[in-house]
Amino acid sequence: MSPNSNSLILYFLACVLFSSFLQDSQAFHHFKFVVKEARYRRLCSSKEILTVNRKFPGPTLYAHRGDTVIVDVINKGSYNITLHWHGVKQPRNPWSDGPEYITQCPIRPGNRFRQKIIFSDEEGTLWWHAHNDFLRSTVHGAIIVYPRRGLPYPFPKPYAEVPIILGEWWKEDAMVVFEDFVRGGGQPKVSDAYTINGRPGDFYPCSKRGKFKLKATYGKSYLLRIINAALDEILFFGIAKHKLTVVGTDASYTKPLTRDFITISPGQTLDCLLFADQKPDHYYMAARPYVSGINVTFNNTTTTGMVKYRGAGLHGRFSSSPPLIPYLPCFNDTSAAVNFSGSLKSLASKDYPVDVPLTVKKRFMSTVSVNTFPCPNKTCDGPNGTRLAASMNNITFVTPSFDVLEAYYYGIRGVFGKNFPDRPPFVFNYTADYLPLELQRSKRGTEVKTIKYNSSVEIILQGTKLVAGIDHPMHLHGYSYYVVGWGLGNFNESKDPMNYNLVDPPRRNTIAVPKNGWTTIRFRADNPGVWLLHCHLERHIIWGMSTVLIVRDGKKPEERILPPPQDMPAC
Ligand code: C2O
Ligand code: CU
Repeated sequence: MSPNSNSLILYFLACVLFSSFLQDSQAFHHFKFVVKEARYRRLCSSKEILTVNRKFPGPTLYAHRGDTVIVDVINKGSYNITLHWHGVKQPRNPWSDGPEYITQCPIRPGNRFRQKIIFSDEEGTLWWHAHNDFLRSTVHGAIIVYPRRGLPYPFPKPYAEVPIILGEWWKEDAMVVFEDFVRGGGQPKVSDAYTINGRPGDFYPCSKRGKFKLKATYGKSYLLRIINAALDEILFFGIAKHKLTVVGTDASYTKPLTRDFITISPGQTLDCLLFADQKPDHYYMAARPYVSGINVTFNNTTTTGMVKYRGAGLHGRFSSSPPLIPYLPCFNDTSAAVNFSGSLKSLASKDYPVDVPLTVKKRFMSTVSVNTFPCPNKTCDGPNGTRLAASMNNITFVTPSFDVLEAYYYGIRGVFGKNFPDRPPFVFNYTADYLPLELQRSKRGTEVKTIKYNSSVEIILQGTKLVAGIDHPMHLHGYSYYVVGWGLGNFNESKDPMNYNLVDPPRRNTIAVPKNGWTTIRFRADNPGVWLLHCHLERHIIWGMSTVLIVRDGKKPEERILPPPQDMPAC
């Protein structure tokens, strides 16, 4: 054979292989998300909820590291909607990120929007959710990012994988709860139940409809992909008699951390190994809230699911009856909560190195605070008739009615300002017990922070005790960041940086700034775009605890925002 025919055969083979690969990957990479009301019967009275593809929780999105996935979002429901792919960095592609009036206008009933989900270095569990009003309470689902095809996990392959989505449930329609909350100006109505994979479990008055069951085989290991999709509460979660070994946070691998329980904030995900190494029996898994604020009303109930060993309970007989309940800390146990989150460390191995910025080009500090506004005749539902609000650096973020991204991209003026301050405008003892009432008042505005392409950024987030000190799970779109330090009390500029972990800090997209404490995050601003930074407690983002980072384009073409899609929803 001549060298020519040889290469022809090779070329032919490559084509066949390539096209079969394409077929396989296309099936894997194109999803249809139909947003639609559906009746849900698992909890007490059945009610109509907004769903994707009539599922609650919604469908799981599967991908491999580095894939690009297309999702056609078709709004057949009766509300405006946007969808966000929480924790997916979307390099250069803020167009598909989703937060309403930040990167797009909402998809109106009857309309559709094709979103392109570009995965890069994420590996593990993430999730997607609605990003407007309270709709994410029922419109959410898991995102599972496997390693690249053919590559292993950095831990022994689990026997099976199980998504565990923790949720929060109201008997009323989520939009009714939302509208009452916005109108009243106080706390939102407390939820009626927490759920595990959409089911409340045994401890609610009308929970006959069931609980989530994990059927385990003795001697096997399970990878639990745990997501906190609750609107407003940080949760403790555990399984009776069993330990959980954390191996990943927010789709970045960690050094294994073995604990009796985990703490997980709204927005966060944890990959945990569960070893079925106990007496074959049935055991409760349970979640309940961690609430650090004083005078904050909340739902103090426990949701349960079950781990049931195969072969246990023959003829309905279990050795422990009722099943054992896991030990979970008390609702206000801040030290249990921060001790868990503060113990997490990046894997930082040869195959999974960290790249923490060691020097910082752009540093800023922001308070994260609850505030109040006066209300005509003191008729609002906040403390002393005020209206509750929240802020970063004393600015209560006002969501515009035209999205920031298109305003920035097309140079439309009057939508946002660029004056988000570098420092808190008032310096005071942020975490003092008694603070003058005037400090509670914030300023309303739509101010963003612009950042040069590729600068190394450090943000110090400082909690305050205004109105009520409480943990704030702060989430950044478009990036994962390293949590290099945290502490209780006020951040001390000369001392605290000496204790930063620049070796193996955890990499996350959401971190709870501890009650009356601070947290420092670092990242390299290598993803141009318009990225929301906000508290993931739904009431706090609605009160205005957010700002926007605009990371400018670099010089080279591959350092610029991609062109917008043709079908951006109209404003
Ligand atoms: Cu999970 Cu801005 O969101
Ligand atoms: Cu908050």
